Amino acid sequence: QKIKLFQEKLLDWYDQEGRDLPWRKDHDPYHVWVSEIMLQQTQVKTVIPYYQRFMTLFPTVSALAAAPEDQLLKAWEGLGYYSRVRNMQKAAQQIMADYGGQWPNTAAELQKLSGIGPYTAGAIASIAFDEKVPAIDGNAFRVFSRLFEVDVDITKPQAQPVFYSLIEEVMPAERPGDFNQAIMDLGSSYMTAKNPDSEHSPVKEFNQAYLDGKELAYPVRTKKPR
Ligand code: ADE
Repeated sequence: QKIKLFQEKLLDWYDQEGRDLPWRKDHDPYHVWVSEIMLQQTQVKTVIPYYQRFMTLFPTVSALAAAPEDQLLKAWEGLGYYSRVRNMQKAAQQIMADYGGQWPNTAAELQKLSGIGPYTAGAIASIAFDEKVPAIDGNAFRVFSRLFEVDVDITKPQAQPVFYSLIEEVMPAERPGDFNQAIMDLGSSYMTAKNPDSEHSPVKEFNQAYLDGKELAYPVRTKKPR
């Protein structure tokens, strides 16, 4: 039915046109995690060289856990928001000490680690462990609110459960990580914030806001974006 068709179109497009990014070469949770943390406040093209250098310097969770702080901060120089990397080291130490060096493999468990909130936990669990769980960042809010004309204010806490249940219904049980990343790519290509190009989107016929000529009205938010 309709959802199945949407999943197929989206994943076919992702297979053909999805971005070829260094952290997508495998599904190692460490790789997914480091990239997601870097991408939180920094653009993809800026992140790429930082990500590559970081992996050379700290190739594993245990290397990160043991890294001298000055080296760590130096590797982060230019990315800003240093609490991100400090929290990452804390989480790496938690994984070593509390989990015997083995990653917890569910979103619920991942959220117990320092600096890992619902979004990052969802990204790691879906991409690295194939858990069918959404990874909802600003892009995903925008994409889904337009696809389904979700009239809930995304700045309100009540929006979270609404989007979670909606996305859980739309996600496939297979390839949940690819699905989440395809949504990110859709949000950065055709379904952008200011100048969407939904005319050429692979899923334009599923984009209700586009069909109604109301794309820019979504996502709904009362507060100004930061
Ligand atoms: N932005 C946040 N996470 C991303 C990912 N995994 N791929 C591309 N862009 C992203």
